[in-house]
Amino acid sequence: MPEQESKGDPAPATEMSEAVSRRAFAARVGLGAVGACYAAAFGYPVYRYLAAPARDAAELAAITEVTIPRENIPPAGSVLMFKFGAKPAMLIHHADGGKVCFSAVCTHLGCTVQYQAAEDHIHCACHGGVYDSRTGKNVSGPPPKPLPRFDVIEETPDGPVVVKRV
Ligand code: FES
Repeated sequence: MPEQESKGDPAPATEMSEAVSRRAFAARVGLGAVGACYAAAFGYPVYRYLAAPARDAAELAAITEVTIPRENIPPAGSVLMFKFGAKPAMLIHHADGGKVCFSAVCTHLGCTVQYQAAEDHIHCACHGGVYDSRTGKNVSGPPPKPLPRFDVIEETPDGPVVVKRV
């Protein structure tokens, strides 16, 4: 009787364990591939989201000039606030027709300054700093140095105005 029972055995024990281990290996490889796909699918957008601000900041810092269409130039006695790269800037169109352009970032602690046409000066509301509106020189209050100035280039009276980093 014991001989008959052993004849019905379909495969030796080593072949069975080999087949199971191949199946387990294939399952692990499949799971690994799926895991890698999920990691790439979720990781890449996160990477792009995190890397974009640094890339954008570098691109904006590399900007050396801004072209302002003529129709955006403010009337005499007023100012145009705009972005020079990532930072605010101001183009002052003086009552006598002269145009000057400065960074609008206060040299004290970085607040955005404003042109005050009635006093014809640039004022920082944060700590009362005052700058000369024609030279950008710091004239009173805590700002330690003048506002950075940009060149204003007008090639034609009706054409755009180009503002360039000095
Ligand atoms: S930040 Fe402008 S005066 Fe202090």
